[in-house]
Amino acid sequence: MTTFPNTDQNPLASLDEWEDDLLLRYPEPEAKAKEEYRNYDDPARDTVREFYRLNHTYQTYDFVRQKEREFLAFDKKELPVWGAMEFLNTLVDDSDPDTDLDQLQHLLQTAEAIRADGHPDWFVLTGLLHDMGKVLCLFGEPQWAVVGDTFPVGCAHSDKIVYPEYFEQNPDSHDERYNTKYGVYEPNCGLRNVHMSWGHDEYLYQMMKDYMPEPALYMMRYHSFYAQHRENAYDHLLDDHDRAMFKWVNAFNPYDLYSKSPKPPVVSELKPYYEDLIAKYLPATLKL
Ligand SMILES: [Fe+2]
Ligand SMILES: [Fe+2]
Repeated sequence: MTTFPNTDQNPLASLDEWEDDLLLRYPEPEAKAKEEYRNYDDPARDTVREFYRLNHTYQTYDFVRQKEREFLAFDKKELPVWGAMEFLNTLVDDSDPDTDLDQLQHLLQTAEAIRADGHPDWFVLTGLLHDMGKVLCLFGEPQWAVVGDTFPVGCAHSDKIVYPEYFEQNPDSHDERYNTKYGVYEPNCGLRNVHMSWGHDEYLYQMMKDYMPEPALYMMRYHSFYAQHRENAYDHLLDDHDRAMFKWVNAFNPYDLYSKSPKPPVVSELKPYYEDLIAKYLPATLKL
């Protein structure tokens, strides 16, 4: 069992600090300077940096395998899909309630932005569901094992991952089984054979894999894999199928990052449409 001190759990005032920070790193439009990112002067950045230090230190190959065993049994809870969204929304943290959207509002804004652009209904549903895996926090998981950029474990960490210097503290960086370019994997073996750092993406993918179309599953599973979908740092592990499917991951990302608007969606007006959509693709209840 991986153990870590109690103080090494939740440096962020809110899970949203990670996504807010992504907006600084990948501002809209995409072109803007990344150099400025590291110099951006804001005390809030210190908590984000600390968050990544913990994430990069503790997300080892063994940690991921342990979390897969623990959570992919889906024996924690069983809820209707909308009930699971409401459960996610009980996640309250220290963020400013006046300016921050709650989890359900972010999901609805993402879905509505996708719907407004005329995309297929399963794409819209993906927007609604994509962060539902954050319920992991409600099971007591530390923030750095729920959110944050994801990356392959079991092979060398790319220096294109944010704050790569913190991987120096990860035991895998000094383990010859895991610290070579391919590590435990084969060249272009396909991401289906690759274990990703543990978090809300993989957990939701595993929950949905029997129900949603393949492009939707890629969006769910890899939406936080910025080192690939923004930086192409792991082309050497992708196969042709991954490359085709990452076009969808790329199509999804702007809706996740740039759909946030201060005007909260009216949940009661939208709920009937989304309940129908849920019923079209998903079973009556979900096992968490
Ligand atoms: Fe997410
Ligand atoms: Fe999101």
